[in-house]
This record gives sequence, structure tokens and C-alpha cells, in this order.
Amino acid sequence: MAQWVRLCGVGEAPAVGKVMESEAGGVEICLANVNGELSAIDNVCPHRQGPMGQGWLEGEAVVCPWHSWTFSLKTGLSEYPVHERVDVFAVRVEGEDVMVNLEPEPRGAGLNLSGGDGTRG
Ligand code: FES
Repeated sequence: MAQWVRLCGVGEAPAVGKVMESEAGGVEICLANVNGELSAIDNVCPHRQGPMGQGWLEGEAVVCPWHSWTFSLKTGLSEYPVHERVDVFAVRVEGEDVMVNLEPEPRGAGLNLSGGDGTRG
């Protein structure tokens, strides 16, 4: 069930190419701006709980500032160095507010971990 809550004001959101930490409903959120599009993932890195929102962007991924694990803003999957995952939260702008859905995107949506044709291994 969707749980849309206010994350911050539009004027407080990160500039293009930036990330920031925020909090909504007791959930720590990393909010990112890729080419003007806002995205949100869990702010807590699954490695050693590093603050993702203090990291930086590489393309459409956020790099954790502590040990550089890198997570896709679209899928939540890490691209380097291991296969880990953070929650991805839907974001939308309502008037002057940035809203986030605290119900994470369904895991596995749009993902293909098998390598494509299922013949791997
Ligand atoms: S705490 Fe994020 S990479 Fe180690």
C-alpha cells in the first residue's frame, strides 16, 4: 500500500548531479537528482551503514562515501563490487513539496539477475 509522505521542499531538493540525506516517517532517505529527475533510495548502505546521501553520483547510480559501493537509483542493485541491494522509493513533486512513497518499489521489478537467457552456470 502506498505511503506518500513529504520528504522536503522543492527548493531544498538537491541540484542536478547532487545527492543529499533526508528523512521521512522515520526512514532515512538518499535523494538524488539525475538530469533534473529526482530519485530516492535507502540512505543506509548495507555494507557498514554508510550514509549514501553523503556520497556522489556516477551516472544513474549513487556511490557510498565510505567504501565506494555503488547502487543503481533505478533498481537499487549494487554495481560494484558485490551484488547487494537497497530499497528504491518512488518520488513525485506535488506543488512545492517533494513526496516519497515509503512503501519500497517491489523487489525484482524490472530486474533480470539471471544474465538474460537462463543458461548461465
Ligand atoms: S558502508 Fe557503504 S560501502 Fe562500506
